[in-house]
Amino acid sequence: MLTNGQTFSDFIHRFIPAETGGQGGESSPTLLLLHGTGGNEYDLLDLGHMLLPQAARLSPRGRVLENTMPRFFRRLAEGVFDVPDLRARTYELADFVQAASQHYHFEQKRVIAVGFSNGANIAASMLFLCPGILAGAVLFHPMVPFVPEQLPDLALTPIFISAGRADPIVTVSQTEQLAMLLQESGADVTTHWHNGGHAINHEDIRVAQIWLRKIA
Ligand code: MLT
Repeated sequence: MLTNGQTFSDFIHRFIPAETGGQGGESSPTLLLLHGTGGNEYDLLDLGHMLLPQAARLSPRGRVLENTMPRFFRRLAEGVFDVPDLRARTYELADFVQAASQHYHFEQKRVIAVGFSNGANIAASMLFLCPGILAGAVLFHPMVPFVPEQLPDLALTPIFISAGRADPIVTVSQTEQLAMLLQESGADVTTHWHNGGHAINHEDIRVAQIWLRKIA
């Protein structure tokens, strides 16, 4: 894949190995935890453990600063993305995941993204641009990062989308469009709707937990 000379150590991150699962946790999945705007590498560690306790956790901090808030890519306004930057950051993150899998000895083919908001958006972008990197994804309140010119081959990749009917940032039609694009790419998409807004709630966690435990 790409490389622009950066290595995984350019990403501030936390890695927590799998608790069980044999030597070096190689047989356990790894959750790639991607925080929302203004978050950091600690934000989703507990959520990751709640979702799939046996998994390893790799949690990078977004490398873009909006004022003082870390993000995974630049935006021009709320919901208006700097798509060239998003694409470049997506490849950079994919490189990071590959380099981290070698460094920490986890199986790259068993990486499942868990992203919230900005983190879910770069995970969706990674599904579109680097389809071999993720074995699955849990997307909490994602938008359509961009519409790919060519759909990737996501044959049977399991993807869980959680969306709130009262989300002031992500419209119902955005969620539906993303689910449709992923389905048309061959992914196995489950969309869970609740009545909440743009935040991860208990119901999100409960339903994602059940889904993840079936596919992991
Ligand atoms: C956010 O605040 O993170 C946005 O709603 C999503 C994004 O900018 O990627």
